[in-house]
Amino acid sequence: MIGRRWRNALKGGLYALFRFGQRFGVDILPRHFYSSIPDIAALSRTNYWRAPLDMIGVAGADIGPQLAFARACGPEQLRLRLADMDLAGYAARENGAAGYNPVDAEFLYFFISTRRPHRVVQVGAGVSTAVILKAAADAGHTLDLICVDPFPTDYLKRCRDGGRIQLVAEPAQTVSRRMLCDLGEGGLLFVDSTHTVKVASEVNRIILDIMPRLVRGAWVHFHDIYFPYDYHRSLFYDPFFPVESSLLHAFLIHNSRYTLRCSLAMLHYAAAGTLRELLPSYRPPANHDGLGDSYDAGELFPSSAWLEVTG
Ligand SMILES: C[S@@+](CC[C@H](N)C(=O)[O-])C[C@H]1O[C@@H](n2cnc3c(N)ncnc32)[C@H](O)[C@@H]1O
Repeated sequence: MIGRRWRNALKGGLYALFRFGQRFGVDILPRHFYSSIPDIAALSRTNYWRAPLDMIGVAGADIGPQLAFARACGPEQLRLRLADMDLAGYAARENGAAGYNPVDAEFLYFFISTRRPHRVVQVGAGVSTAVILKAAADAGHTLDLICVDPFPTDYLKRCRDGGRIQLVAEPAQTVSRRMLCDLGEGGLLFVDSTHTVKVASEVNRIILDIMPRLVRGAWVHFHDIYFPYDYHRSLFYDPFFPVESSLLHAFLIHNSRYTLRCSLAMLHYAAAGTLRELLPSYRPPANHDGLGDSYDAGELFPSSAWLEVTG
């Protein structure tokens, strides 16, 4: 058996190698049960983990009320308007790059049109910003839009210069707490950023420090949420293994202040037919235990989750 001295020396060597790799933008890690990176070979050989969770303790997890909420957000005249509009193409052209996916973009358009929030704070912006601005303009609604993004596109800079948004080109970890919390009644905190749970990540800050402070009546949106599965749809294609969805899920269990109003991923698995009637761009991708069969399958998958502070 390897002694404590040798084990510590080995760990020190591995840490030095890791630090060396990071200087060149790569993470060099041993495969070990202490690592947070999943063992992809082992996962691909086994099935015990491939199952939906029953969302126990999450208020709003029932599909009926979620469908009622989705229908209320997207009344017929809005659905017809969207069917005639290439919303995703428009927003990608405005932003100069793709980003937020077409199906979630349509739901976002519905939400802004019908819920009419007066203040929206975006963490991670771009395509979704163009969708929010268009939905508000089409609805004759004015809102304050604050975009927190450390790498803003030229489109976001043009919107700032034209006075259409307030742009804060900083990571959401370093902006004031007040900026993220100050949503007012019916305001929206829209999160679509790194999806990472790690030391000093903006996702940790938002879920652990910001969300518990939001006032009743506020809304929170997250993207790339894979309820009721506890793993990313592109697990076998995307090397970054985001676990934001799991941290959000843990936050919601027996949380009496938050209600899950709608998880488009849950509706995909439980009510694809109804979702298809609601969202013109939605083409239900195949299901294999919550896993897609290509990287694109993850990208085109409806994955926004909408939460209301109800307590
Ligand atoms: C997955 S993309 C989201 C795309 C965006 N929501 C859209 O509508 O196109 C991730 C976004 O998060 C931004 N981002 C990266 N780190 C961030 C941080 N620490 N705080 C806020 N935004 C961040 C990136 O610049 C990028 O725009």
